[in-house]
Amino acid sequence: MIDARKDFPILSRKVHGKKLVYLDNAATAQKPKQVIEAIKNYYENYNSNVHRAVHQLSAEATDAYDEAHEKTANFINAEEEEVIFTKNTTESINIIANHFARTLRKNDEIVLTQMEHHSNIVPWLNTAKITGAKIKYAEINKDGELDLEQIKKLITNKTKIVALAHVSNVLGTINPVKEIAKVAHDKGALVLIDGAQSVPHMPVDVKELDCDFLAFSAHKMLGPTGIGVLYGKKELLENIEPFNFGGDMIKEVTFENASWNDLPWKFEAGTPNMAGAVGLSAAIDYLKKIGMEKIREHELELTKYAIKKLSSIEGVEIYGPKQRVGVISFNLKNVHPHDVSSILDSEGVAVRGGHHCAMPLMKLLGIQGSVRASFYFYNTKEEIDVFVKALAKVKKIMGA
Ligand code: ALA
Repeated sequence: MIDARKDFPILSRKVHGKKLVYLDNAATAQKPKQVIEAIKNYYENYNSNVHRAVHQLSAEATDAYDEAHEKTANFINAEEEEVIFTKNTTESINIIANHFARTLRKNDEIVLTQMEHHSNIVPWLNTAKITGAKIKYAEINKDGELDLEQIKKLITNKTKIVALAHVSNVLGTINPVKEIAKVAHDKGALVLIDGAQSVPHMPVDVKELDCDFLAFSAHKMLGPTGIGVLYGKKELLENIEPFNFGGDMIKEVTFENASWNDLPWKFEAGTPNMAGAVGLSAAIDYLKKIGMEKIREHELELTKYAIKKLSSIEGVEIYGPKQRVGVISFNLKNVHPHDVSSILDSEGVAVRGGHHCAMPLMKLLGIQGSVRASFYFYNTKEEIDVFVKALAKVKKIMGA
């Protein structure tokens, strides 16, 4: 097991007089002191704008900012110019959806899946509305897994983009994105992977997956909020128009015209999130030191343990497949997920209850919402015991 809790100050706080048991990591992860210190050090010692001035502070901030690109690229096995810093996963997806909103035609098709987060549905609804292109949804089976055979039929010569989650934020399903990318490429379509729930929890290699685009957020992988990543293959990004326009993304400007900077700066208009990049750098250092394989193993063990315990409670219905990441969505018979979450909170246990920004999936499952417990490498089996005990209290209070 990984012993990292001492690095996370927040994990030793109390909530309602009880020890905090933080099981809402799919929403956002907690930050180790190494990340908090790196951000503090940036503001205390070299806060300055990047890529603009020649003074010492700007040089130091620029080095740190550029190094963050390099480390992020290295983390997912990409080239440095293929890594664009955005605000978050949502903005990364919007950049690509916006490109397709300018280039798709009426009979073109977009393929998504039924398990997507709103962030990977709504931008495409907009693209479809603007272009008249059609959206098709790959179906999931009763265990919450994609049907590869159906996807193979769904992706045709009309498909221009396949956009799907690597890991479902509700079901924890790990999708066979490499196989799907192959099917899409054989038909001449591009592939965007929403890696918000995978990059923080397992090794992700863009070359190995052969995806065209990958989107993820720093805050789910120990980094700060307000910084995300868009990876794109260089030859594709070079032919995509910028999304935001302004300073730092230009090569030359006249009163009449402008030309674009090299990658990745072409997509990073305005003063970027320097402190965020420094925090992301420190987060990547931290994750690499533990090792992504080890993180995956730890979470797998916790998940197996939690599913076994939860399954033994009468009235608990768990959604999703056997093979999953550390995300468990469930309902307690006849109890609203918000009531379950509130009572768990009174016991110091933080989970998310609701539709998890996946309303269409909820409808498909025939539920209004669920309770979701999601783990990270700093969670322990003892915490799962506290969670399960608290759930027994929910049952008692609610008479379930
Ligand atoms: N996307 C985040 C979640 O699933 C916020 O909770």
